[in-house]
Amino acid sequence: MTDLLFANVLLFGSNEPTVHLPEGLYKALLASHSGLRYIVMILLILAVVYARQTSSGKKPFAGATKKMGMFTMILVDIQLLVGAALYFNFIASQTNFKLGKLKDQLSAPMFRSIALDHALGMFIAIVLIHLGYAKAKKSMNDVDAGKKQFMFYLIALILILVSIPWPFLHHERGWF
Ligand code: HEM
Repeated sequence: MTDLLFANVLLFGSNEPTVHLPEGLYKALLASHSGLRYIVMILLILAVVYARQTSSGKKPFAGATKKMGMFTMILVDIQLLVGAALYFNFIASQTNFKLGKLKDQLSAPMFRSIALDHALGMFIAIVLIHLGYAKAKKSMNDVDAGKKQFMFYLIALILILVSIPWPFLHHERGWF
């Protein structure tokens, strides 16, 4: 009896998702999450370029470099919040929170690329941006602060670029 319950309820259960976001809200969140990628990339590139100039003594840290670092951090935090809501909905719609279905789905490239590669890659990039910002703020001088922001934000930029589900790699996704 418990085996039956375990297999039916926890592992596979019904095919109907029990919880999901209302359609309009889902579409609005997906459109903003998708469009914000471009603003994230522009701010992140500027934060890296300004930090490079600061690290070579051409620009003070307190000014455009620090502000760009902060705006980028706020924007990726918004992406994290929206991404978390989409993630919850994505897992609900594809697996209905059943362990057996989750295991099955992980072998499907489309599911795996979002549920694992995208979410994990982006999460690490966001942690790196927070670390870079905190370390730059605590630095003893402007050159050192510039170096810290440059290093952490550059690695985060590369990670974000490779973790975005671009339409030329994921044909079910669009440019916006
Ligand atoms: C800087 C951070 C991030 C960027 C730039 C980003 C960008 C994107 C893009 C461009 C898409 C494709 C949208 C489309 O098909 O139109 C997407 C989908 C998605 N993202 Fe992110 N993302 C970020 C962070 C995250 C995080 C941290 C999570 C999870 C906690 C997440 C969860 C998702 C999910 C679940 C989808 C698929 C939604 C669906 O198709 O139902 N994202 N993301």
